[in-house]
Amino acid sequence: MNISPYHQRRLSLIDRMNRHGGGVAVIPTAPEQPRNRDTHFPYRADSYFQYLTGFIEPEAVLVIVAGTSPQSILFCREKNLERETWDGFRYGPEAARETFGFDVAHPVAELDTKLAELLADQPALWFSLGHDAGWDARITAAINAVRAQSRAGKRAPAAIRDVRAELDAMRLIKDGVELDTMRRAAAIAAAAHVRAMRFTAPGRHEYEVEAELLHEFRRMGCEYPAYTSIVAGGANACVLHYVGNDQPLRDGDLLLIDAGGELNGYASDITRTFPVNGRFSGPQADVYDLVLDAQAAAIAAIKPGAGFNDPHEAAVKVLAQGMIDMKLVHGSLDAVLELESYKRFYMHRTSHWLGKDVHDAGEYKEGEHWAPLVPGMTLTVEPGCYIRPAEDVPEAFWNIGVRIEDDAVVTASGCEIITDGVPKKIADIEALMAEARG
Ligand code: GLY
Ligand code: MN
Ligand code: MN
Repeated sequence: MNISPYHQRRLSLIDRMNRHGGGVAVIPTAPEQPRNRDTHFPYRADSYFQYLTGFIEPEAVLVIVAGTSPQSILFCREKNLERETWDGFRYGPEAARETFGFDVAHPVAELDTKLAELLADQPALWFSLGHDAGWDARITAAINAVRAQSRAGKRAPAAIRDVRAELDAMRLIKDGVELDTMRRAAAIAAAAHVRAMRFTAPGRHEYEVEAELLHEFRRMGCEYPAYTSIVAGGANACVLHYVGNDQPLRDGDLLLIDAGGELNGYASDITRTFPVNGRFSGPQADVYDLVLDAQAAAIAAIKPGAGFNDPHEAAVKVLAQGMIDMKLVHGSLDAVLELESYKRFYMHRTSHWLGKDVHDAGEYKEGEHWAPLVPGMTLTVEPGCYIRPAEDVPEAFWNIGVRIEDDAVVTASGCEIITDGVPKKIADIEALMAEARG
């Protein structure tokens, strides 16, 4: 494992803390979540903790002491041969320190005592209050333990600062190692979507298609899906977060799949919509090509200096005009945009940051203004159009739901689409599905 990116990130955080007078940061990993009795949900380390350490065991805490002689200190589980026989390998503090490049490591059982020492006479405690009541109480107890030593001349930190605010800003711009991982996660997700397209046929069930996706994610090395896969046939595509995935697929319907894998802690997020029987009908093709045109306009708007919302505005303009042409909405383009009547059929946003989390860390606005795009930022581009049956809607479009989603990295001159391993032009989708049927 290459530990230098983690080391670099810890140095960057120390630098940022020092710009605000230094202090001590406490960054715990995620707790294990019981599922029932003695089984747990699959464990996933906290994204911030993972970003700074590369260490993915539960029950671990990173403490960073900034200032002129900075230190990175890991608290983790001790080795325990009996537990390791049941649950698997644990590094233990010494091997973890050595392998992951920390300055110091201690058993996690010593955290509370050591924290009271580490926080004494420090100007600030950097923590993320309000995310976990148990941790809030533990941190309060550590501060009170320092206060209790005031007659011995120890001073508790005068300020509590939000460590996640600094980490969010760092995570917004991906480094080379992150981008390489994201490209690979994206390629795996694309392969999974191709597999799903090839497999899909009338009479198969949504869950059977989901199984193909999961098979490909895992086979190619993803640890888990990056979020619950949406496999939505026919009218289900108009339910934005449909995850039932239990219905049969019908001849003549579209299938919308929104699915991505997580690789080494990084998400991919792809949506494709295609016909269950391999051939788009006329009205399906009309809606599909409108969404594809909107996506092309959004992608063209991604470049350094553009605002985060520019791709959304570009997509909405194309979609609104298309909806007018298809008699889904009425009035001039300006009126439809002004009144936002397009929102009846396109009610979500076009992009979100993508990274360790599918909806990744990072602010979308700087004050009043949308965040300016900068090389190394990664975002999705996912316009859609969802048409529920209604008397004032042309019947030919009823129950057509289309979304097309790709993942983009902002480059020096525009953007790189990292999910283009799965087709999205109608002719290419139809050719792939025809070839799969022989
Ligand atoms: N799959 C979640 C999203 O597209 O935002
Ligand atoms: Mn998305
Ligand atoms: Mn998605």
